[in-house]
Amino acid sequence: MAPSLEDIRPAFDLKGRNFIVTGGAQGIGFAAARAICEMGGNVAVLDIQEKPVDEFDTLSSHFGAKTFYVQADVVNEESLNRGFAQAVEHLGTVDGLVPAAGIAIDKPFVDQTWDEFTRIQEINLAAKQMIKQGSGGSMVLLASQTAHCAIPGHRMAAYNMSKGGVFMLSKALAVELAPHNIRVNTISPGFVDSEMLQRVKAAKIPREAQQMEISPPMKRLSNANDLTGAIVYLLSDAARFTTAADIPITGGLHAGTIDGLIYYA
Ligand SMILES: NC(=O)c1ccc[n+]([C@@H]2O[C@H](COP(=O)([O-])OP(=O)(O)OC[C@H]3O[C@@H](n4cnc5c(N)ncnc54)[C@H](O)[C@@H]3O)[C@@H](O)[C@H]2O)c1
Repeated sequence: MAPSLEDIRPAFDLKGRNFIVTGGAQGIGFAAARAICEMGGNVAVLDIQEKPVDEFDTLSSHFGAKTFYVQADVVNEESLNRGFAQAVEHLGTVDGLVPAAGIAIDKPFVDQTWDEFTRIQEINLAAKQMIKQGSGGSMVLLASQTAHCAIPGHRMAAYNMSKGGVFMLSKALAVELAPHNIRVNTISPGFVDSEMLQRVKAAKIPREAQQMEISPPMKRLSNANDLTGAIVYLLSDAARFTTAADIPITGGLHAGTIDGLIYYA
């Protein structure tokens, strides 16, 4: 006999759950932290910056959430270990991770250096902590449209490589961690209007910069608000049987563009 149907609204609730967001001082990471608090969760943010955007300080009183900020460099082992330990101490447990720390470098492949790729050790620490707790969890990794196709005019080979790695990593981890009831999914945003994007745009000639705004079929840049629904969904029990999935959030750019078709890998 089929199970009786359940209400869906409570499944989106993050009440009483604890999350770590890296790179949450601003941009997409901060939007994720804010959305988690709005949905009832508590959040610890690790970021290399001394302090987060001012709004971070209002989250606790506005949403009744427990919040914690620690300055940490996720590519420095000692700094990450210290920051992560402090975050766990403040939160008590970790039920989910959004690793949003990242950098984008738009310059020719032949000029890129050994150091210009992202590392992913916070995922390792979060997995260890969740396995130790034994109560499962959810990770939402930030892949990118650049994980699926190279766009003419974008010279971001190292970034493409790292996001392609994040995309495949999420699948490998989803399979490996499923026995621990830890789900691992990705979102693949297109062009998101953030400081990162402004830096990439500034490195481009005006025609290429403008192309970022007009090439999505929905004909605009996205913003962090376009992403938070998917992040909350994937962190929540509403997605309890969803793992190794990717949600493209591109305004349709992954399916086609005014400049010709982009094929999704
Ligand atoms: N903006 C876009 O168009 C876009 C598109 C697809 C994916 N993404 C991904 O989304 C994520 C967030 O990007 P964003 O647009 O919000 O960028 P952003 O530059 O606005 O924010 C990135 C944050 O990461 C932090 N950070 C960078 N290096 C760090 C380190 N070593 N240790 C700790 N913190 C560090 C920065 O201080 C910053 O707060 C990134 O992984 C990015 O690759 C962005």
